[in-house]
Amino acid sequence: MIRSVVRGSGAALPRRIMKNADFEGMVETSDEWIVQRTGIRQRHVAADDETTASLGEAAARAALHSAGLTPADIDLIVLATSTPNNTFPATAVEIQNRLGMHHGFAFDMQAVCSGFVYAVATADLYIRGGLAKRVLVIGSETFSRILDWNDRSTCVLFGDGAGALVLEAGEGTGTIADRGVLAASLRSDGVHKEKLFVDGGPSTTGTVGHLRMEGREVFKHAVGMITDVIEATFSQAGITADDLDWFVPHQANKRIIDASAKKLGIAEQKVVVTVDLHGNTSAASVPLALSVAVADGRIKKGDLVLLEAMGGGFTWGAVLVRW
Ligand code: ACO
Repeated sequence: MIRSVVRGSGAALPRRIMKNADFEGMVETSDEWIVQRTGIRQRHVAADDETTASLGEAAARAALHSAGLTPADIDLIVLATSTPNNTFPATAVEIQNRLGMHHGFAFDMQAVCSGFVYAVATADLYIRGGLAKRVLVIGSETFSRILDWNDRSTCVLFGDGAGALVLEAGEGTGTIADRGVLAASLRSDGVHKEKLFVDGGPSTTGTVGHLRMEGREVFKHAVGMITDVIEATFSQAGITADDLDWFVPHQANKRIIDASAKKLGIAEQKVVVTVDLHGNTSAASVPLALSVAVADGRIKKGDLVLLEAMGGGFTWGAVLVRW
């Protein structure tokens, strides 16, 4: 059977780093509060010349380089983002053009922080369905553009960045010993819209709007939703937490990551945490965390890796990949 195998990975971050202490003169907050409640110590913030498209392009080029491929080898680009350069055309098509790629096709996926997990699951279906052989899956965000910089309960939480994978069709035997995407489980439920949303849009206000979040409410639902969807993925693949080599969760809050890992029985040393470095970069958070753990040699070929995310919508999902 066809499997969607990871051939390369890469990432890109804005030049400017903003430390927690940098907020202290802007809103009533402290480094201590932010670290204790979230685990975040710093985040990258895009300059005017750094956009979702430019960061996405840089991450894509890094992933192509690590795969030993060029844009000519790619059939499809799937970009997960909630902060596109324009309402339309899709930022994925802009990245396609920036890469000098005038064949194949490209589109955006919008599932907020779950976007990258949705995009990997979607790319896997395109590959297994025979519509594409090599797919660039990108998560790129510039959440700094939709933050209310006067709202201390949200502005300290988010950051900008991008990460990418190259997925390639490969032959598998149909067992979980195969390399590639092995199982996926996706969910959404719009009843939770008001807990996390952006208060603008083309069809309502005609403005871009700002992120609004009832953090405590999101927190309350997060661990239960994350663990449900991971248990569904485990049962699809016929594995338990002990079989995992690495858990790469969405990087929203260290307390949510710790509580989820504990509830699932995933050992602390298997959990990849980068929320301290990047903050919550929404759809970019999982591929950014992957790129760190690949670069430092933790994630290696053959490792069983679980990706997970939960975000606005609510949307949530998990994907199991043998690297
Ligand atoms: N600095 C200092 N105090 C603050 C700050 C701040 N930056 N922000 C809020 N506070 C205050 C609040 O006003 C509140 O004060 P009060 O008690 O006087 O009313 C107090 O701190 C406690 O606020 P809580 O909201 O109860 O704090 P909590 O412990 O829940 O932490 C947080 C807040 C970090 C937002 C947490 O709820 C959280 O992480 N929620 C989940 C967010 C998340 O996972 N999002 C994922 C999806 S993101 C996406 O999809 C785009």
